[in-house]
Amino acid sequence: MEPVRLGIVGCGVIATAAHLPDATKSASFKVEAVADVDVARAKSVAAQFSVPNAYGTADELFSNPGIEAVILALPTGVRTPVVLSALRHGKHVLIEKPIATSVPDVQQIMAAAGDRVVGCLSCRYTFTDSAQRAADYIAAGNLGNLRVVRVRAMISAKDAPTKPPPPWRQSMRQNGGGILVNWGCYDLDFLMYMTGWKLRPRVVLAQWWPIAEKLKARVAPGSDADSHFLATVRCDDGIVLSFERAEFCATVDDEQWVVIGTDASLRVRMIPGKDKVITVDETDAAKGAVSRTLWTGDEEHAMNRRALEDFAQAIRGNRAPRTDLSRALTMQKLTDAIYGSAKSGRAVELA
Ligand SMILES: NC(=O)c1ccc[n+]([C@@H]2O[C@H](COP(=O)([O-])OP(=O)(O)OC[C@H]3O[C@@H](n4cnc5c(N)ncnc54)[C@H](O)[C@@H]3O)[C@@H](O)[C@H]2O)c1
Repeated sequence: MEPVRLGIVGCGVIATAAHLPDATKSASFKVEAVADVDVARAKSVAAQFSVPNAYGTADELFSNPGIEAVILALPTGVRTPVVLSALRHGKHVLIEKPIATSVPDVQQIMAAAGDRVVGCLSCRYTFTDSAQRAADYIAAGNLGNLRVVRVRAMISAKDAPTKPPPPWRQSMRQNGGGILVNWGCYDLDFLMYMTGWKLRPRVVLAQWWPIAEKLKARVAPGSDADSHFLATVRCDDGIVLSFERAEFCATVDDEQWVVIGTDASLRVRMIPGKDKVITVDETDAAKGAVSRTLWTGDEEHAMNRRALEDFAQAIRGNRAPRTDLSRALTMQKLTDAIYGSAKSGRAVELA
């Protein structure tokens, strides 16, 4: 495959910890340029990863005709105009998660996308071996009719941080939300992927809470978004999505991703790890529910690299990437409905 000539906008944590190491080592990419509003950072990152060009604005990078595709690794609150500019310049675009801060933003991106490949990195955690195995098991009909699709991922408050937390992380304006968009977008993409993108959310009832006053050192001053949310989502066919996540909260760590059907249920962790297990609880007319290990294995943290490979192959194969804009829109509609329901105190209906 001819390498995709790539540019990366935003030279912060995720670009330097994941995208640049993965793309510069991959035969599927040739990294031509990086850009950051902090041009000194762009130059030093370019030198560190032997990237030939460094720019102080995204538009300078987009004006480089040698670049076919870009990864946009900058905070969500400032990203949509940058996505639209990349598309105006004819680039394929891989967008960091969450896709945007609202449904109208995603719709604007969709209207501008044309024939370009546009994907969202909320799909990262679907690129594990266990996610694939779970999806195959569910697609084969082993669970019967789906009833409940659940994530409950509670991360307890740990020691107060020694470095200032990023200002965008729990900010409605800068990030479009808090833990719901930081990690909930991964949960949702993962559950949607495992259930074959067949869930059709219709009614949402939700609540969210900010970080508790005495734990506030863990978020940046002025943070105004969720540190904990809980949503019940009624989908078509009587399926209920039960969706709760929290960070910095007054509870022990407790994580479960579960799909329950009439005939069996499946339990798996989203996060890759050693000795990972998928457990299924299958029913037997005589014995009732019997648990067994469906799959076990060691998983490396290869999901970002695989998501980038999927993007390159989507470009060269002229196909949609794993989480394309229509899927991202479904997730954004649900996100907006969760915040809308929490604000109004009422159930929100989705078209
Ligand atoms: N930090 C993580 O572990 C992590 C993991 C996965 C995804 N993400 C996502 O990646 C995105 C960026 O996160 P991060 O942690 O790398 O943030 P960061 O603050 O470390 O880096 C963002 C970079 O973008 C630059 N930037 C801001 N506006 C810009 C603009 N208009 N043009 C060019 N550059 C601009 C900033 O100067 C900064 O260097 C967020 O959407 C986040 O949700 C972060």
